[in-house]
Amino acid sequence: MAKKIHRRGFITSLFGAAAATPFLNGAPYITKNLMKAKGKMPVVVTGRGGDWAEKVLSGGWSAFEKSGDMMDGVIGGANVVELDPADSSVGYGGIPNEDGVVQLDSSVMHGPTRNAGAVGGLEYIKTPSKVARLVLERSDHVMLIGKGALRFALAHGFKKENLLTERARLVWLRWKENLSDKDDWFPPADGEYNFPPRPTGTINVLGLDEDGSVYGVTTTSGLGFKIPGRVGDSPIIGAGLYVDNDVGACGATGRGEAVIKVCGSFLVVENMRRGMSPREAVEDCCRRIIDHNNGKPDFGDNFIAINKDGEYYRGGIRGPKDPGGPSYAAITKDGLEVKRGEYIIKYERRG
Ligand code: GLY
Repeated sequence: MAKKIHRRGFITSLFGAAAATPFLNGAPYITKNLMKAKGKMPVVVTGRGGDWAEKVLSGGWSAFEKSGDMMDGVIGGANVVELDPADSSVGYGGIPNEDGVVQLDSSVMHGPTRNAGAVGGLEYIKTPSKVARLVLERSDHVMLIGKGALRFALAHGFKKENLLTERARLVWLRWKENLSDKDDWFPPADGEYNFPPRPTGTINVLGLDEDGSVYGVTTTSGLGFKIPGRVGDSPIIGAGLYVDNDVGACGATGRGEAVIKVCGSFLVVENMRRGMSPREAVEDCCRRIIDHNNGKPDFGDNFIAINKDGEYYRGGIRGPKDPGGPSYAAITKDGLEVKRGEYIIKYERRG
């Protein structure tokens, strides 16, 4: 199917082609594109296991099959979670900020045109990934935030909706009432006084089409109870998501501040450009974050990466609750495959 080439993308492609060099630091990375694919293509991958893997990837795959456009595939997969109030870390039903307001972050990248779009702190819109795609396709900008992002979405016909589910409101209220014994909010007499770790969560969906072109999306409601206006890694190109059509793609989940500080997804893609496998590239990035945090990070980060050959992997720093390693899954025309990667810092049972 012919793909629409947008004015900005077309100009970028022309200059990109003219300026393209087949060598970077002596490595003939462009020639890699000519190698026969090792993995199956088309393919859609996501950093989710369990029931979510099937829901996300079958949603993504049917969107891809319907249009033949893998951008529809990756965003269609992300939309499944954004629209489902059962997930408290993405889209509708996400845990709100400290004021009880849900603020969403998302980014998308389109490999063939080397374009990107992102929104940060978007309120009232259930599918921030669709708005990020519109920033990419229908504006000459890369990122819109807050009120400007909302106005842009409304201009494109999105409807304002309440994103705070009753479940998320009760989680927020419990946090608020347990925050301090020096403020005026009291938990109920039979309430919980020990609040569990602050909820985080995000979803990455990456895809290769039959030509080996690369696409990606990251979407999240961000860190639960964040300071209003806090933007994590998810909408930052190179942090929560990076796609390079010559190399592959990477998406991040976990503590966004740590990912931003190492340009995590960019680092993983650059590692692959220099010849590392997706697994080696992810583990190198995780080690960088561990080193930057005195060898003992008290948080988790995970990266999912796919290269142009269709090889993919998800790994992370550590899973405080999960001894088994981070889940990930892929769908091709042969069906769904769910896998587990590894954490660099192994799970230790405490107490
Ligand atoms: N990785 C999601 C966030 O930190 O917001």
